[in-house]
Amino acid sequence: MAEASTRPLRVGVLGCGMISGNHFSAWSRCQGAQVVAVCDPVAERARQRAAEFGIAASYGSPQEMLAAEGLDAVDIVTPRETHADMIRLAARHGVHALCEKPLCPSLDEAQALLEDVGSRIHVMVNENWRYRAYFRQIAQWLYEGRLGQPVQARIALWRSNMLRREDGLVTSLTRQPFLARESRVLVAESLIHELDVARALFGELEMLACSLGRASEHIRGEDNAVMLLRAPGGLSVVVEGSMTAAGYATRAPDRVEIAGTRCSVTLENGTLRLFGAEEQTLHYDEDAVRQACFDDAVQHFTDRLRAGRGDFWTSASDQLGSLRLMDQAYALAGAIRPLQDTARPRHAPPAIGSAHAGEAQAIPA
Ligand SMILES: NC(=O)c1ccc[n+]([C@@H]2O[C@H](COP(=O)([O-])OP(=O)(O)OC[C@H]3O[C@@H](n4cnc5c(N)ncnc54)[C@H](O)[C@@H]3O)[C@@H](O)[C@H]2O)c1
Repeated sequence: MAEASTRPLRVGVLGCGMISGNHFSAWSRCQGAQVVAVCDPVAERARQRAAEFGIAASYGSPQEMLAAEGLDAVDIVTPRETHADMIRLAARHGVHALCEKPLCPSLDEAQALLEDVGSRIHVMVNENWRYRAYFRQIAQWLYEGRLGQPVQARIALWRSNMLRREDGLVTSLTRQPFLARESRVLVAESLIHELDVARALFGELEMLACSLGRASEHIRGEDNAVMLLRAPGGLSVVVEGSMTAAGYATRAPDRVEIAGTRCSVTLENGTLRLFGAEEQTLHYDEDAVRQACFDDAVQHFTDRLRAGRGDFWTSASDQLGSLRLMDQAYALAGAIRPLQDTARPRHAPPAIGSAHAGEAQAIPA
């Protein structure tokens, strides 16, 4: 499908697991495309999604689906280690691909994949967080120079999703059991989104340092990460996350702080503030933003394909920049070690004087 198209695209979805629900919802609202077939090796999962979203055909094999359906595009929502095979299969059928992140488990595999595929098909990566309305607003403010000179930035994702809950379950592993066997967890699965957003806001970043740790006994990889990056021009950016931060929600959203010489920006719990030389406060419904970024990514993919174009905002070649940072983070951090309970003062602080105005007053609950 090289030429601009006037008919709806015929789309097949590969993978009917946890995050596919957001994809199917997005496709159901997409203008100019229709999901006509779904596929999952767990055939019952494919049948269920087909019934739920009124899709005509379900398959247990990607090869069969691609051979039978005359598709224009596939949406690949399968585990990271299968993405390259799925894209190569799509390329053999001349079918364009939207693929979940990370495009591949490592930069080398992604580079080899893109060399193989060449210009046979267009490939976009579902780096959907970049499409979130508040990040696009921050990008707009930066673009307009409203912050003056940005001098320092921090993006933080603190959650409690790898802590055992009262019912004995671990939220993250209930949603994504495969994370238990991965050696790359927080950065490869989640913070790759924040790295991608940071690149979209500040340009190609250099990874200076990375520290990774594991607090959970349920996984092999890391559940805590701090990365220090430098943007062109010298701006320092910290991207960090915790999956074991008690008291934080299991799906707590990103917190952002950007210091600028004219205005600074904060994002916390869906409230975005620009303040300093001017003031603006915007509120976002976090649940709506979470789904809307899938809707917008899917619509962008469809619009570009229907126009006969492959210059996606989050193209596969753009993703190489995020995968490079991801690989560098793991290389700089070295072996991921269990966190030891030694990071606390060796002595209690001395008691000094009597109560006065500078002492804390407990707020009644
Ligand atoms: N963009 C986001 O916000 C976001 C969020 C979560 C997960 N993801 C990504 O989405 C992908 C899937 O994650 P998930 O959490 O839904 O995983 P999951 O394990 O819940 O689902 C994956 C599904 O793919 C199926 N599958 C495996 N091999 C297949 C094949 N060859 N063909 C068709 N189906 C196949 C599995 O049977 C399973 O049903 C991963 O790359 C993950 O990193 C992205």
